[in-house]
Amino acid sequence: MINQETKERILEACRIEEVVGDFVSLKKRGANLLGVCPFHNERTPSFTVSPAKGFFKCFGCGKAGDSVTFMMEHEHLSFPEALRYLAGKYNITIEEEAPSAEMMEAQSQRESLFAMMDFAKNFYVDYLWNNDEGIAIGLSYFRERGFTDDIIRKFELGFSPDKWDGLTSSATGAGYKEEILEKAGLLIINEQKKYDRFRGRVMFPVTSLTGRTIAFGARILKTDPKSPKYLNSPETEIYFKSKSLYGISHAKKAIVEKDVCYLVEGYTDVISLHQAGIENVVASSGTSLTVEQIRLIGRYTKNITVLYDGDAAGIKASLRGINLILEEGMNVRVVLFPDGEDPDSYSRKVSTVELLEYLSKSAVDFISFKTKLLLSETAGDPIKKAGLVRDIVETIAVVPDAITRAAYLRQASTLMEMSEAVLIAEMNKIIRARNNRQSEEQQTPVQDQAGEVLDNIEKEYAEEQLINDEHSTEVHEEEIIRILLNYAEEIFPLPDFNKYLEVEPVKGKQKKKGLGREAEEEEKPELQHIKVKDFIFDVLKTDGISFTNEGYAGLLAEFANLITTEADYDAQSFINNLNPDLKPLAISLVTPKYELADWKSKGIIVRLDKDRIDKTVVDAMVYIQKKMANKKAMEFQNEIKERSEVGADIDELLAHYQELINLKMVLNRITNTVINK
Ligand code: CTP
Ligand code: MN
Repeated sequence: MINQETKERILEACRIEEVVGDFVSLKKRGANLLGVCPFHNERTPSFTVSPAKGFFKCFGCGKAGDSVTFMMEHEHLSFPEALRYLAGKYNITIEEEAPSAEMMEAQSQRESLFAMMDFAKNFYVDYLWNNDEGIAIGLSYFRERGFTDDIIRKFELGFSPDKWDGLTSSATGAGYKEEILEKAGLLIINEQKKYDRFRGRVMFPVTSLTGRTIAFGARILKTDPKSPKYLNSPETEIYFKSKSLYGISHAKKAIVEKDVCYLVEGYTDVISLHQAGIENVVASSGTSLTVEQIRLIGRYTKNITVLYDGDAAGIKASLRGINLILEEGMNVRVVLFPDGEDPDSYSRKVSTVELLEYLSKSAVDFISFKTKLLLSETAGDPIKKAGLVRDIVETIAVVPDAITRAAYLRQASTLMEMSEAVLIAEMNKIIRARNNRQSEEQQTPVQDQAGEVLDNIEKEYAEEQLINDEHSTEVHEEEIIRILLNYAEEIFPLPDFNKYLEVEPVKGKQKKKGLGREAEEEEKPELQHIKVKDFIFDVLKTDGISFTNEGYAGLLAEFANLITTEADYDAQSFINNLNPDLKPLAISLVTPKYELADWKSKGIIVRLDKDRIDKTVVDAMVYIQKKMANKKAMEFQNEIKERSEVGADIDELLAHYQELINLKMVLNRITNTVINK
């Protein structure tokens, strides 16, 4: 048992940011550090570490504690285990009180399994280095493979004697019960006999995040068609296959540093890359990649590069697993090794510099990798190609972030020589279906009133906007430019916004912020009329909104010119005078958004944008204001969190935040009424 004095010395030595930093990628934020919470699934970081207080706290899930609790929670350690880990980290010698017999008895099952595995690992390592059989067969095998002694020791590789009871007799001699050997998956007991699971094989210990042995992979050295090349530990109370990654304890620090994790197939790939100086590498070891494994990597980086050997069948089998990575919002790149090479063989063939160069040069993003791979099989076959297009778009649709999706779509459109519009349409279809909407059949536009038809389109459009990234304003930018291009000179009656401002006053006066100059004027009996372009520029200016998309920003600037020179807008000459970069975009936006011909043939009278120009323009402006308000609100929330965490004054922030909430309420009222009228 660890004595009290040692306990105190350990607690004093701990620096929370270092302890947590070994497991979570942290970025400085004022006096604190911020990262993605390892205890719940989140995309925006709300996990805060305060070095001054020695505490961590997650504002998302509420988990909080100090260095010891972090280790207990994160690594599922007991209190003494956590202390031992921290003592090791800070080079503190543990002074023990002699353990009593009861304590020995009370040792938990898990702890005895860990102890059992640790014993077995040491036994196999010792056998490799110190036994004639181990040296002649095991050690010489590793050396012939080109592993250095250092690397063999680092990965604690070992050898299991070619006997039925090599480990068992040694372990029982040291006081371990057969029962625990069996529970640890090391001893097989059946009606006829008992025997060691691993015999005459080189041993690869699989470790937990903290480096404790939880399982073994064991490679056969003879050619024996009846035995598998690798024999692996069964799952036990300390080994969950789907949650473990080979090499993670050696890799985690380098993964955080390099902000990328290489994913390989086998034990030997991990070891060889380490030997070549590349340490940010793990293997899924024979199982297909699981969500838990991906999330484990996701604690350290959002970037995964999958290293494939040049075997086509293997690649195709693993494509599905990679969709999982995309679904988790991670970035996936792929490196393909030359035919017949795997990371292990290739890393031994070339120098580290050449290897690194190869990795960086040949890494391509997953979507274009998959597209190119499958495209080669569809040559000249339109049906196969259609299947490919759907497959690729389905893959892109799993990416949670809309901007990333858009970028992938654009790229795929080039690679497949397929118009982007078609791909977008296909993707929206998939996303809608996925969002569990009873779609097309129920909402076919065969209805009596054109208004309802349009409402349905409106709904779908609004939903698409929702699906888009919460803070991306791109769709709204597009809509505003589309309106300008088509209706810049139209005059429309400005709705009376004052009636939407009747919010119960909170903290002082109401701000009629964000609705353009007109809105701030006193209520008028008559509706004011205004030009579309003037209204739009007015709102943009009042709210300080600028566009993020390069193309739309470019077009907006052209319109701004028009306003300053007080020239009238004429579509034809405006587009003619655009620079060639912007022209195609402008042209695509002056063509009608929805294909209406079909409905006309069904006798449906469709109101066009122009008939409801007030609604169209106001909608567009309110939506972009809402996006901006949401984004601001989130920034405020983060700042409030951070400040309150360090005990700073947040009154003023809260007041601003409240104002913003009021604004959002007003904007919501407008979209709920004006829009649906
Ligand atoms: N594997 C396994 N069981 C098998 C074969 C393979 O668990 N019967 C897993 C192992 O984790 C192995 C990985 O799949 O490391 C990749 O298999 P393979 O490429 O055949 O093995 P390598 O690690 O490359 O081993 P070597 O280079 O020694 O052949
Ligand atoms: Mn290999």
